[in-house]
Amino acid sequence: MNSFDIKTKIYFGDNALDRLTDIPYQKIMIITDPFVVQSGMIELVTRRLDKSGKEYSIYKDVVPDPPIEKVVLGVKALLEYQPEAIVAVGGGSAIDSAKGMREFATKLGAKEEMALIAIPTTSGTGSEVTSFSVISDPVEQIKYPLVSESLLPTEAILDAELTRSVPPAITADTGMDVFTHALEAYVSTENQEFAAALSEKAIEICGSFLLRAYLDGSDTHARKKMHIASCLAGLAFNSASLGINHSMAHQLGARFHIPHGRANAMLLPFIIQYNSYISKHSRSQKEYPKQVKKYVTIARILGLQNFNTITTIRALVAWVQFMLREMDIPLCIAQTGKCTKEEYFAAIPAMADAALADACTPTNPRVPTKDDIMDIYERLWDVN
Ligand SMILES: NC(=O)c1ccc[n+]([C@@H]2O[C@H](COP(=O)([O-])OP(=O)(O)OC[C@H]3O[C@@H](n4cnc5c(N)ncnc54)[C@H](O)[C@@H]3O)[C@@H](O)[C@H]2O)c1
Ligand SMILES: [Fe+2]
Repeated sequence: MNSFDIKTKIYFGDNALDRLTDIPYQKIMIITDPFVVQSGMIELVTRRLDKSGKEYSIYKDVVPDPPIEKVVLGVKALLEYQPEAIVAVGGGSAIDSAKGMREFATKLGAKEEMALIAIPTTSGTGSEVTSFSVISDPVEQIKYPLVSESLLPTEAILDAELTRSVPPAITADTGMDVFTHALEAYVSTENQEFAAALSEKAIEICGSFLLRAYLDGSDTHARKKMHIASCLAGLAFNSASLGINHSMAHQLGARFHIPHGRANAMLLPFIIQYNSYISKHSRSQKEYPKQVKKYVTIARILGLQNFNTITTIRALVAWVQFMLREMDIPLCIAQTGKCTKEEYFAAIPAMADAALADACTPTNPRVPTKDDIMDIYERLWDVN
């Protein structure tokens, strides 16, 4: 038996932030990152809270790839302030931090059940509608997704006005995160028609609007579309989960601080080829595994359908590589300048173990071995 539900109420479109004047909570803690406060963007939120006479406090110490000790500091702040609701404003890091803080504060005896209102300022993670929160452990050098229904935000507010200031590199990385969510959910072993429909629309939007948003950040139409796509892809993977692209990307983020979407984007060409059993040397076969048909459908949605199955999968891989080049995303780890070859290769066995144990791995359409994962990491070092 399957089920599908969307527990988070979604407000979207022009002036969606006006929802803040109507929320039925009086005492609020805003959880955000320093950029949102320093840039003045926070005023788009506080102005509305002031207008409706809310009491609020601002916690602004979120850092990218939230480490567990920062989450602990936020839990203390929540237990001291005891708000009725949390308003999380920022990228995936701010929203994931708020989810983790609320979860632990509730377990540690917060007086009231706190509502969580998630307001994304990047079009990327879809965290505003997912039961995932990705936390880093800097000591163990791993990043692990917590997965629980209790992490789901109560409300999500999608106002693309907040994404206009996202610089091109972050638009590129987060946009490829959207694409990876939609694609991994689509080929996941848990995929079904509801999640598939959400993925297909998200992919269609990425195909038409991601490059536009990257090339011109003030292209409001493209920004709005990508903001919706991010949420659609979040709903898709919240229902169907992800795969080893994410499992492997989490390790690259934890060890070498490669931004999440960028790590996903670099891995994608390798993972599509691995999951489809089709490389540039493959010859056509009578039958292909189920996921190959799904990749072909994605290629068709992107307008890439080609001569036959093999040429179509190659076209899909080439499209991803084209997007990476157009948006100045490195194609391999060597191009990131984040580590030496020795450091990288020394980390591969431990990264492979952690990727195999990652919560996203069980739904990958091809069951990987440690050797498979190590082989992909090794080839990711240098594409030349
Ligand atoms: N919970 C989930 O379902 C889920 C899914 C995928 C990824 N993640 C996690 O989310 C995190 C990544 O989130 P992200 O990609 O949104 O990036 P982020 O939240 O880490 O932000 C990246 C940078 O962008 C800046 N930024 C945010 N909004 C901006 C704006 N409007 N204008 C200018 N700069 C802005 C931030 O200050 C930060 O410096 C990772 O930890 C990843 O593992 C979570
Ligand atoms: Fe992601």
